[in-house]
Amino acid sequence: MALRSIVLEGDSVLHKTCRPVTKFDDRLAQLLDDMRETLSEADGVGLAAPQVGVLRRAVVVLETNVPEGEEPYIIELVNPEVVACEGGQEGPEGCLSVPGRFGLVRRPMDVTVRAQDRHGNEFEVKGHELTARCFCHEIDHLNGIVFTEIASRMLTDEELESGSWQDEAEEE
Ligand code: NI
Repeated sequence: MALRSIVLEGDSVLHKTCRPVTKFDDRLAQLLDDMRETLSEADGVGLAAPQVGVLRRAVVVLETNVPEGEEPYIIELVNPEVVACEGGQEGPEGCLSVPGRFGLVRRPMDVTVRAQDRHGNEFEVKGHELTARCFCHEIDHLNGIVFTEIASRMLTDEELESGSWQDEAEEE
């Protein structure tokens, strides 16, 4: 495994549509292993292949909704598609490609994703709250969308710290 460098906002690679993964080979396994390591090292909750400069439809997401005493684990999604959404949430969102900045983004509260694993087997996975937000955020990356483009607005450090953005979200 190896760490890969994370592309930062301003790089055109973040605004391109990624191609589907068609070969479930050692190269894909290497990419996913590297993405897992890069995500953990960066202490993030999600990473998409274009963020490491690879224009293929693959993402990793940290599932943090685990029973008490259990460790969060990484979900690998190859060629992911959202197949169902429920509810809504408005909250601050960030991105490893946009370090230190957060914006208010509306997302579904529950999301079901259909994807393939690194061997090409299809499966479905559900995400709630932060995980649902992450699924949507990472799939956006595969379509060349960075959250700063869809945020209702960016937040200041003071707003983040004080939590005052919550009043605004509740007013909707
Ligand atoms: Ni991101």
